[in-house]
Amino acid sequence: MNVEQILKNNEKWVQERLKQSPSYFKKLAKGQAPSCLYIGCSDSRVTAEALMGVQPGEIFVHRNIANLAPNNDLSALSVINYAVSILKVKHVVVCGHYQCGGIKAAMQANDLGILNPWLRNIRDVYRLHQEELNAIQSEAKRYDRLVELNVIEQCVNVAKTIDVQQAYLEKRIQLHGWVFDIKTGKLIDLNVNLPKITKQIREIYKLFS
Ligand code: CO
Repeated sequence: MNVEQILKNNEKWVQERLKQSPSYFKKLAKGQAPSCLYIGCSDSRVTAEALMGVQPGEIFVHRNIANLAPNNDLSALSVINYAVSILKVKHVVVCGHYQCGGIKAAMQANDLGILNPWLRNIRDVYRLHQEELNAIQSEAKRYDRLVELNVIEQCVNVAKTIDVQQAYLEKRIQLHGWVFDIKTGKLIDLNVNLPKITKQIREIYKLFS
């Protein structure tokens, strides 16, 4: 794919939208009211909107390597704050995927420069679940399981934020942990339970009584 082709695609896309509705972009320009925040991986194969079948305006998206929501990452925290407390989305989704290069890199002993501190977040997940992961004989299965556990731990990180704690107490938020299976195209629901997570972490992470 080259840049000229992309610009041509854009022209075609604009024309198609206008054919469906002449006021399409006028309406889009009025503002956004997405009902869902999606935190996913930057992987080019995991196309957030396409795999969920949603249109512009429907989801607020944050993507980074290995769909992390680190405790001190200003970018992810700002996205969560804006989506949950200002846009007041009703759902937060953390979506990982099998064959995630970030997860794989974190499982190997390599110095990857600037990526080291980022991947350390994933290694922390490994350490938290070391016993379970080390008991898995097959490396492929251990890799898949770390993808899942990383999604669950990022959901915990999301649940720790003041924005989500507040929204949860106001009963206006649901949290979902998904894995995208690249081999089948299907989304797998890990059945993350926000009330349970909140109960487990609140003793340590509560920010108000
Ligand atoms: Co990935």
